[in-house]
Amino acid sequence: MSLAIAVINGPNLNLLGHREPEIYGGTSFEEYFASLQKTFPVLTLSYFQSNVEGTLIDHIHECFKGGVDGIVLNAGAYTHTSLALADAVAAIGMPVVEVHISNVFAREEYRRTSYIASKCAGSISGLGLQGYELAVRWLNMHLSAETL
Ligand code: DQA
Repeated sequence: MSLAIAVINGPNLNLLGHREPEIYGGTSFEEYFASLQKTFPVLTLSYFQSNVEGTLIDHIHECFKGGVDGIVLNAGAYTHTSLALADAVAAIGMPVVEVHISNVFAREEYRRTSYIASKCAGSISGLGLQGYELAVRWLNMHLSAETL
């Protein structure tokens, strides 16, 4: 059975392609996600985005209940504020990779704090949209090794 990896984006990431393109680039996530699916044809990749904290938490719970094997999470600004999202990541006991398109350590001071980083298997920051591909690649290797 193919591995199921969920890509979850938080607030304002639905505006990728329009939002501060000098920071986040000019590609929409839908466009990027289609290319990501082509890169990993043997994986079952899903994509979910919400601007609402509780909806993101509900979706993480659904991934846990619904047979998802690993998660790539860009929690957007909730990264820096949400203890509840961090608790959700800790609660599900499955590998989650934190991704940020921009280098959060090279920006405002308040972006250097991540409530979720310590609950994640690892974090990728500043590598643009390619960070998602690297996260999926790592999850695929890690989860495949687990099932050997
Ligand atoms: C972001 C970085 C966050 O600080 C910001 O609030 C975002 C996007 C990133 O992908 O670089 O919304 O998570």
